[in-house]
Amino acid sequence: MRISVIGCGYLGAVHAACMAHLGHEVVGIDVDHDKVRALAAGVSPIFEPNLDTILSSARESGRLTFSDDPAAAAGAQVHFVTVGTPQRKGENAADMTYVHAAVDALLPHLRPGDLVAGKSTVPVGTAALLAEKVAASGTGALVAWNPEFLREGFAVEDTLTPDRIVYGLPPAGATTVDGVPAQDHARRLLDEVYVSALEGGTPLVVTDYPTAELVKVSANAFLATKISFINAMAEIADATGADVTALADAIGHDTRIGRRFLNAGIGFGGGCLPKDIRAFAARAEELGKGESLAFLREVDAINLRRRQHVVDMVVDELGGDVVGRKVAILGLSFKPESDDIRDSPALDVAVRLKGLGADVVATDPHAILNSIRQHPQLGFATNTVDALFGADAIVLVTEWAEYRDLDPERVGELVRAKVVIDGRNALDPQRWADAGWTYRGMGRPGVA
Ligand code: UGA
Repeated sequence: MRISVIGCGYLGAVHAACMAHLGHEVVGIDVDHDKVRALAAGVSPIFEPNLDTILSSARESGRLTFSDDPAAAAGAQVHFVTVGTPQRKGENAADMTYVHAAVDALLPHLRPGDLVAGKSTVPVGTAALLAEKVAASGTGALVAWNPEFLREGFAVEDTLTPDRIVYGLPPAGATTVDGVPAQDHARRLLDEVYVSALEGGTPLVVTDYPTAELVKVSANAFLATKISFINAMAEIADATGADVTALADAIGHDTRIGRRFLNAGIGFGGGCLPKDIRAFAARAEELGKGESLAFLREVDAINLRRRQHVVDMVVDELGGDVVGRKVAILGLSFKPESDDIRDSPALDVAVRLKGLGADVVATDPHAILNSIRQHPQLGFATNTVDALFGADAIVLVTEWAEYRDLDPERVGELVRAKVVIDGRNALDPQRWADAGWTYRGMGRPGVA
């Protein structure tokens, strides 16, 4: 099947490469020439496990090409729209400029029966608007909504073997120019795209536009709520001497609750959860249903408090003043296995400590270059030993495996003072305390 993918950011680059890997003929289109050039050379513009391998093998197969010309989409039967929907500057709502620009650029190249399949995370109601736009163009093309649920760090795996597929199909009664029901036509095309996953038993939910759009934002809102719930419990645990990790284990044994996404820490970040919950709440207000999602404002507030909480802990451990004190920051990306620093709580903590006058030296296995571009005022070390050397306090803020595995005895030989603040509850408190450290975690009793 011939596929175009409009927008080769995180989602689009992975989707294009994976679709080609599955045997489709794919063209990825992006307005950014440098990105197109890199991808065409088989180089991933982001760090994402397995993406380089899959990009170069798809490229060698001849099934994957990239272009900065929307005309390259001509001839594809399904056109995936995978452009970004960032938070609007100074507002909570999503910026839909790129989605509309992508569809506008596509219109002159659509043929009757083509399917425009939206994947970007959008405010509910967008698919219907785009369907009107496509219908008004007289091209005879159709629109479907097909949200994506991939996680950074597992993007290739999640795309090749998703845990569910959702189709938001056109309304009943709509037809193609040949009189075929639009729902049947769109479904047949999407089934062909996802044939391998569907044959492998991936659950499929076939529904309408608004439900498909809402599935995506409600899934992210639920995940964000789960994290803020456990972080709220961490605040209560701090006030009572309880241990939030044991609490999460205990409630997580209830399969109705589940243990995943109950890790208390410095909160969620990244290019999705924070902006998605804000845009969702903003959309609810537009719909006159602001109160239905008012709790998401609290989810956001709990989340943002976590960052300052860690900063306060460092200040406290250093006797109330961090000026000139060396603080080693372990981790900069918003989560492990990613070089993405969009709305990264780890980077935010580093910036706040620097703002208080600390001599911050931050390190990360993959996110240093991205961080230097945004925050050149921070100190950076390209390896963990240099970051730790002579530190007055260590702050673990992104739980990369190499930080989890640090040996407290060996680290103790590098630092000036044995103070560790574990912003992700990733370390064994007793092991660090036994090696002479003052250990402070998130919502768990300190050990010294
Ligand atoms: C999230 C969703 O998990 C994906 O399903 C969705 O497709 C994606 O957004 C998207 O909308 O594109 P992602 O942003 O890659 O994926 O990251 P997550 O794994 O959800 O982690 C988000 C943040 O929550 C990270 O900063 C992570 O450290 C934090 N987190 C996660 C916690 O603080 N505690 C937890 O228990 C889990």
